[in-house]
Amino acid sequence: MEKILVTGATGQIGSELTMALRNRFGAANVVAAGHSRPPLSHLRQSGPYCRLDVRDAEAVRQLVEDYQIDTIFHLASLLSAVAEEKPRQAWDINMNGLLNVLEVARVHDCAVFFPSSIGAFGPGTPAMDTPQDTIQRPSTLYGITKVSGELLCDYYYHHFGVDTRGVRYPGLISNIALPGGGTTDYAVDIFYEAVKNGHYDCFLDADTQLDMMYMPDAIGAAIQLMTADSQKLRHRNAFNITAMSFTPGQLAREIQKHLPGFTISYRVDPVRQVIADSWPRHMDDSAARAEWGWRPCFGLPEMVKDMLEKIAVKLDKS
Ligand code: SER
Repeated sequence: MEKILVTGATGQIGSELTMALRNRFGAANVVAAGHSRPPLSHLRQSGPYCRLDVRDAEAVRQLVEDYQIDTIFHLASLLSAVAEEKPRQAWDINMNGLLNVLEVARVHDCAVFFPSSIGAFGPGTPAMDTPQDTIQRPSTLYGITKVSGELLCDYYYHHFGVDTRGVRYPGLISNIALPGGGTTDYAVDIFYEAVKNGHYDCFLDADTQLDMMYMPDAIGAAIQLMTADSQKLRHRNAFNITAMSFTPGQLAREIQKHLPGFTISYRVDPVRQVIADSWPRHMDDSAARAEWGWRPCFGLPEMVKDMLEKIAVKLDKS
């Protein structure tokens, strides 16, 4: 991993993964490529940045050749709730974007990281201790693109020897860039509202349990998997990983330990509730632990404490 391209670099994961990669592998060696969102200033100023539409195969090829890229973290994607609103666009970005990346990786011998998701599972999947290998019949367009992406990545590995690797991320909680149109976004929004207004009106019901992870663990997982010994990977696309599993009610109670006056109400969004109800409550991530040493650092109490401190500073409420 010497010359790295991050697509979707201005998104929730990309904004932090790009900086972590620049710190570790050298700023000049990590090219950040964003599209719809303007980059945060530190992302643009700390190393190479360009605008890229991953649907444009020629532009992807040119970028990989210009910078002699050997590893691509392909994060550009539409999230679950937005994908339900714009299914054709979601298919185009999530699938054709991935195909363009895999093709250029095949020709130029690049390794590829592809983030799959809890969304790759569906209502027929066991919701508790969801096995690594199990039924994957998602009911969302987003989930369909994630399962198809996993299969396509495996195909490129088996047929063309492209070093593809991926994880199934749970809901990701972070304090740098906001998520854009996901079903698990409540677990980020709640912190901003708690610090600003002391109240949050939640779009999922109080008992909706989902797997979650704090961003430092999500970033660590991507880098750890891409630097893992290839020989030890029996699964590749994609590994279940999780760090915690909670409901909006439990998250609110943890926030109240720090902000006793905080209150939560529920106004359920039927579209996102149906999506959440089709996803696992808690995934079994033992394959990731055994094959490449996955182990998260943040549980619910540590994540809540850190989020509240960081958001208070960000909103100047400390
Ligand atoms: N966080 C994503 C979403 O809610 C799931 O991968 O869409």
